[in-house]
Amino acid sequence: MIKIAVLGYGNIGSGVVEVLKRNKDHVTKRAGQEIEVKYVLDLRDFPGDPMEDKVVHSIEPIINDPEVKIVVETMGGTTPAYEYVKAALEAGKSVSTSNKELVAKYGAELLELAKKNNINFLFEASVGGGIPIIRPLNQSVTSDEIYEITGILNGTTNYMLTKMEQQAMSFDAVLKEAQEKGYAERHPEADVEGYDACRKIAILSSLAFGCQVDFNDIYTEGITKISDTDMEYAKKLNYSIKLFGTSRKVDGKVYAMVSPVMVGKDHPLSNVNDVMNGILVRGDVIGDLMFYGAGAGKLPTASAVVADVIDEVKHLDTNITIQWSKNKLELGDFKDSKKQFFVRVSGDIENRRKEMEDLFGAYNIVTIGKDDEFGFITNCLSEKEFEEKANSCVGIQSRIRLAK
Ligand code: HSE
Repeated sequence: MIKIAVLGYGNIGSGVVEVLKRNKDHVTKRAGQEIEVKYVLDLRDFPGDPMEDKVVHSIEPIINDPEVKIVVETMGGTTPAYEYVKAALEAGKSVSTSNKELVAKYGAELLELAKKNNINFLFEASVGGGIPIIRPLNQSVTSDEIYEITGILNGTTNYMLTKMEQQAMSFDAVLKEAQEKGYAERHPEADVEGYDACRKIAILSSLAFGCQVDFNDIYTEGITKISDTDMEYAKKLNYSIKLFGTSRKVDGKVYAMVSPVMVGKDHPLSNVNDVMNGILVRGDVIGDLMFYGAGAGKLPTASAVVADVIDEVKHLDTNITIQWSKNKLELGDFKDSKKQFFVRVSGDIENRRKEMEDLFGAYNIVTIGKDDEFGFITNCLSEKEFEEKANSCVGIQSRIRLAK
């Protein structure tokens, strides 16, 4: 029997305990031995909970207990998660975590530490909730040169954008719903401002390119400026609006960004709705791969954490190699990256059509029945060119990038 400890008994931590209990026989068979939770670390007590007697309020009993071979970290944030995970690895315990903030910031360092101690640091649940994506990137598409990863990586914002599009719900009402369902982060800015998706694309890019991609270097824009009017235009043009995290290699440089995009119905990610996540991986030999599944939520995320625990039980004294060096990858300047834009501009179409055509090569000019504004799609421009042109004329109200 293997004894484990769970750090953080919130949404995901309690999900891990539930999955281990609910699928006990199956998990035992897959792991080759029974897995028992010996400790649960949390600041709170849980009177009446089946784990009540296992709750501890400090990390020491766990670190000092040689019986504990695996630590599950589902606390979130980097403090004290980083100190605790480091201490566990230093004490020779493998770690499985769902914590994308921890992995994005300290992944390379913690992997190095695990390797040094011949144990494992696994983080399947940190990206895409229950979707297997870390393991395929690390173990399956290894013969390919990956040149693009594009994903809908945040369940909360995808849920929100889907409801705004399909049920015309307001931003605030739909955010509240996502929080009630347990999808959203403690601080919802992490979801709606795109920070969560940014950390996830940083993790995927680091794995795909083998070097440290710093999330601070990734241009990030959330969904807070997306309005009902934008949704109306998108509908009229037969597009959906999605929050994409993208990292793409062009002429040897990697360009990464997080932003809302207009997605045509023929794009592989256009039908990824509600809390689902979708990840498109493009390799030079294999072509396009799509990964799809529940991107947030207690049990799907816990399923990925427990799968890592099972892998760690099967590799108790063997380090599973994960290529992610501490060497920093210098990203290309996102202002040089090229794409088309959907633009909303104020004024009367007939008065301003020629000006917009001359400046942006505007086509697909469209109205939604307002006589004081219209929308159009630009030629393919770099971010810098677009910004210069937009600054040179009056009345640009908003722009949304088009998905490639
Ligand atoms: N808040 C995150 C999301 C949770 O909505 O995707 C899963 O990482």
